[in-house]
Amino acid sequence: MNSKDFERKLNGYIEFIENRLDKLLEVKYPSEIYESIRYSVFAGGKRLRPVLLLASCEMFGGNLEDAADFACAVEMIHTYSLIHDDLPAMDNDDFRRGKLTCHKKFGEDLAVLAGDALLNKAYEVMVHSVILRKNAKLVKAMEYIAECSGMDGMVGGQVVDVLSEGKKINSDTLLYIHKNKTAALITAPLKAGGIIGGCLEKEINLLEKVGYNIGVAFQIKDDILDVTSTADVLGKPILSDEKNKKTTYVTMYGIEKAQCDIESFSNEALDIISCFGEKSDFLYEYIKNLITRVK
Ligand code: IPE
Ligand code: IPE
Ligand code: MG
Ligand code: MG
Ligand code: MG
Repeated sequence: MNSKDFERKLNGYIEFIENRLDKLLEVKYPSEIYESIRYSVFAGGKRLRPVLLLASCEMFGGNLEDAADFACAVEMIHTYSLIHDDLPAMDNDDFRRGKLTCHKKFGEDLAVLAGDALLNKAYEVMVHSVILRKNAKLVKAMEYIAECSGMDGMVGGQVVDVLSEGKKINSDTLLYIHKNKTAALITAPLKAGGIIGGCLEKEINLLEKVGYNIGVAFQIKDDILDVTSTADVLGKPILSDEKNKKTTYVTMYGIEKAQCDIESFSNEALDIISCFGEKSDFLYEYIKNLITRVK
């Protein structure tokens, strides 16, 4: 896939997601909660997770309309995880997506509620889609998303992340954190998109491996950018991990090995995704671009 076609496809997915999110999060009473949610959702995230869901669905011949609400739901869950991650009780950061964090702008009370509201809205939107389309595959997609978001996924990873602050942890614990706090919410959309698109059970296992490898690489890169980038480029503070005495891939292995491992994990993902042949061209290119991302 040439770079022009790739950009066109990516921008098409992002526009599709933005429009859908805009409709799903239309302001009602009490407007303050809608405004705080919209502030964070439309602050300019990369939309990685919904793009993965739509692309995975299309790779198996599925149609975007069936996947749209699930893509938005995953972005809502991701945004809630960021709002809560930034709270003083967690990473205590003041900037996100180039703007003040939700709690800095609206107060901690509203930020906690904005996270709660986004999480609930995500399930409401998925359940509506299941009822409307009467399709059992959508229930399975919801199960993947629920599992990967909770205690056996993102929440579990965040728990071990915060409990490990200031402590010496081993490499297995660090990998547990990366796998769960980040890779789980990257695996979920690949699997959910796959099942909605009509993939087979054995293909779900492959998507799970792709998600694990992209997700770990993504968090290693996030750890590197925290020490090498600037707040302007990232849209969030740098040196947040050092401030919170976190063990990261960089503090455990150094930048050089961290960079090498991003390539190994990403190459593993690329090898597996290429098993799907030509239909995987977009995802192949997308994963490749994540290796060199600057934000
Ligand atoms: C940030 O995720 C949190 C991590 C898991 C590293 P993203 O880097 O995808 O953030 P946005 O959505 O683009 O803001
Ligand atoms: C958090 O990891 C991942 C989440 C589940 C939100 P980080 O704490 O490193 O993410 P950033 O750097 O604040 O985006
Ligand atoms: Mg964190
Ligand atoms: Mg953080
Ligand atoms: Mg980080």
